[in-house]
Amino acid sequence: MATYSIDDLSRREILRMSAVLGIASAASNRPAIAQTAGQRTPEQILGPFYPLKPLGQNADLTKVPGRPGRAAGLVLNVVGRVLNLKGEPVRNAKVEIWQANTHGRYTHPGDHNPVPLDSNFEGSALLTTNNDGRYRFKTIKPAAYPAGPNRMRPAHIHFQVSGRQDRLVTQMYFEGDPYLEPDRFFQTALEQKDLLVAKLLQPTSEMEPESKLVEFNIVLNAG
Ligand SMILES: [Fe+2]
Repeated sequence: MATYSIDDLSRREILRMSAVLGIASAASNRPAIAQTAGQRTPEQILGPFYPLKPLGQNADLTKVPGRPGRAAGLVLNVVGRVLNLKGEPVRNAKVEIWQANTHGRYTHPGDHNPVPLDSNFEGSALLTTNNDGRYRFKTIKPAAYPAGPNRMRPAHIHFQVSGRQDRLVTQMYFEGDPYLEPDRFFQTALEQKDLLVAKLLQPTSEMEPESKLVEFNIVLNAG
């Protein structure tokens, strides 16, 4: 099983962001990369399930404060950076996240999907980026859920990211999800769709062995 040190992780993240932001090296100034320069992360709908209760600031959504149990499902370590169009970190950005549980249901009175709730799943959080613009949280992989007759939403985590001058509402999806291509909301990102799709990577040595690592960087217009 491949694992990565934090240094490797940072290096890979830098390489990925270089591609996203079109920071071509001196030796390689390919137009294909330059075309991606300065791309804000695409907007996605807020959806009907933004939490009604205040968001907690606990970055481990697999546990509910005061309860001994653990949320069901595949544990994900989600890491990423919030950057501006110049590739500079956005410090102290507010990162609000909310998502369905492993069965595909939100802890929200408006969600009538007849699959189980998980009383051990927190389901939402309010995080703050550090000086490098980094955020991270632990959660479980949400399931896809029905959004109307014969229509499924692909698995996703909702994000609302607020810098001082820009606020972005978006969703992170998962590579290989069969419901992605038919999803009309995902399709609104057009040629930028790939910016919203994350891979499930092997965990680093300090993460739970059975968990997965997910990287999702977010680009705002400005900090
Ligand atoms: Fe949703």
